[in-house]
Amino acid sequence: MTTTLLLALDLVAAILTAAAWIGAAVLASGLRPVAPPDSAGSDGPATRRRRAGLTLALFGLGVLGVVAQGVFVALLAGGGWWFVQEKVVFALPLAGLAAIGGGILAAPALVRLARGHGTALGARGTAALVGAAAAGVAGVVARLVIGYPLELLPALVLLALVLLAAALAHAVAAGRPKRVVTGLAAFSALVLVASLGVVWLTSAALPGALAAAHEHVPTEARAADGVSVTALRTPADSPGAVRAFELTARHQEVTLASGTTVSAWTYGSLPGPELRVTQGDLVEATLHNADIDAGVTIHWHGFDVPAGEDGVAGVTQDAVLPGDSFTYRFVATDPGTYWYHTHQVSADGVRRGLYGTLVVLPPTGVPEDVDLTVPLHTVAGAVLLGDSDTAVARSVPAGASVRLRLVNTDQVPHRFRLDGAPFTFVAADGRDLIGPTPVTGKSLRIPAGGRLDLSVTMPESGVRLSSNASTEAVLSLAPDGAVIPGPVPEAADDLDLLPDLDLLQYGTPGGAGLPAGDGRVDATMVLDRNPRFLGTRPVYGYTVNGAVFPHIPSIEVSEGNRVRLTVVNRGWDTHPMHVHGHHVLVIERDGIRSTGSPLWLDTFDVQPGEVWVVEFVADNPGIWMDHCHNLDHAAEGMMMALTYRGVTSPFEQGGPHSNRAE
Ligand code: C2O
Ligand code: CU
Repeated sequence: MTTTLLLALDLVAAILTAAAWIGAAVLASGLRPVAPPDSAGSDGPATRRRRAGLTLALFGLGVLGVVAQGVFVALLAGGGWWFVQEKVVFALPLAGLAAIGGGILAAPALVRLARGHGTALGARGTAALVGAAAAGVAGVVARLVIGYPLELLPALVLLALVLLAAALAHAVAAGRPKRVVTGLAAFSALVLVASLGVVWLTSAALPGALAAAHEHVPTEARAADGVSVTALRTPADSPGAVRAFELTARHQEVTLASGTTVSAWTYGSLPGPELRVTQGDLVEATLHNADIDAGVTIHWHGFDVPAGEDGVAGVTQDAVLPGDSFTYRFVATDPGTYWYHTHQVSADGVRRGLYGTLVVLPPTGVPEDVDLTVPLHTVAGAVLLGDSDTAVARSVPAGASVRLRLVNTDQVPHRFRLDGAPFTFVAADGRDLIGPTPVTGKSLRIPAGGRLDLSVTMPESGVRLSSNASTEAVLSLAPDGAVIPGPVPEAADDLDLLPDLDLLQYGTPGGAGLPAGDGRVDATMVLDRNPRFLGTRPVYGYTVNGAVFPHIPSIEVSEGNRVRLTVVNRGWDTHPMHVHGHHVLVIERDGIRSTGSPLWLDTFDVQPGEVWVVEFVADNPGIWMDHCHNLDHAAEGMMMALTYRGVTSPFEQGGPHSNRAE
């Protein structure tokens, strides 16, 4: 059974347990001492017997639910502690105690009542059943609301609320004076409201953990033993042939190939201009903002620039407001396929069209004769493959080799297929793969933000590139430049018939490997979805280790550290995790080691229930964002920082530039 299935089964068992025990507690309220015979609404003896029987049955059902939870949790534990912690240390013991308490204090009386002996359940029995109901609810809350990690304080609060519920039920059932009952009820409400209030206040309070990266270093000390991200930039006189680009961000009505007009935000075109440079060039890109009121930046996705050139609003620079400009500079050290996009209000800006591609060629060029960059992007409901939302055909002579650089600039993973000839994968996320072998009959899954380069030799009959995103936007390459008809039946779903190629098993090992580094850092990111406060706003947030941006503690490293990052997905969504400033080497996924070509990625898709282990060497000092590239998830909390000790930033979220990295 998969981890996700076990998580679902455990959750269902927990909810059923809570529901059964709530039912039992509600029914039990009708089993109080018999009222005077003439009073209206009191049950006859037969009804009471049935009610007692049903209460007992519901209680028993809840106990079965607890047993089921125990089984599922035991199986789930094989997937890792992160999936079971709150269940093992809190929910299950509490449910077990509730089952025992109910078994001792309520069950015997219920049996007697059901048989027609006995007259009432008694205060203790009632309290046990109400306590069990509360324990059941607490188990669900621990799983869904608190998540991983469940810390001592929230656990104690939940426990206190369960005990208070039982005490309250006891007071009512035992006919305690009204002020005792009201007092208990008021105290329970106070505990609940106060704990929510504390959570709200800590969320609302800034600076959060990210801001703390620059807050904890006193200003005077910064110059002495710290370095600001503004100093981590590329000097204008760096060696290399200068390649200057001007990009102007603006509102633009763009008429697509199909005739549809979309109102987009662009860097001058849709997609933005492809920046094509050669290894060793000094890239100088000047960004102007014509009229994007929200502000704009350029982040060089996957290209590991110096921190000050990284383009994250409120972390490495201020957002560029209308009329302003900013010049990015970096040496094109690493050949490969990259892309660029705004990192100011990025969930909105990228979707509207603030993106383009960056290609760095090796000094001698690529081995292929034809080299095409094909970003896939959805804008205002239209799917663009390259720059077209309709079928495009290009003529390529038979026998010519073609490199296709596939870039997924959307929020969700896309699957591509190339029909017509076997192809090889030559690079992933801008890093060459070793020992690629020909592939046929496989689809290529690319995470949001990821890139795959493939190479194919043109057959007489041509090749056809399509994706699950659209049946219209398809690229045909053929000697006669004809549109290649799709596989029959023509449907994007055809992709489902093809298995995904697993890059962890593709190619052959080799290469330089990961430098040993000095000092090890182990960090874990447990991804989930929980109700949280984003600032002051309640959201069903995307969490890392139970927190949302900017309150997720940064991963702190020193230059030279070897960092091992374990990323765990406890939720139901896919999270394309993106690490700025570094490429990570994939070590294993779900305990299965990567045995193919070393896989150096900057964006990797952590699907529900998966556990990825990746490593990298901290060789690029800065404050780096580390986030989900489903930018909606990032905007709802799934964003944190990797910070180098001693690096500070004068920028902050908000402020006069309304900086908003996500
Ligand atoms: Cu492509 Cu932080 O992003
Ligand atoms: Cu996500």
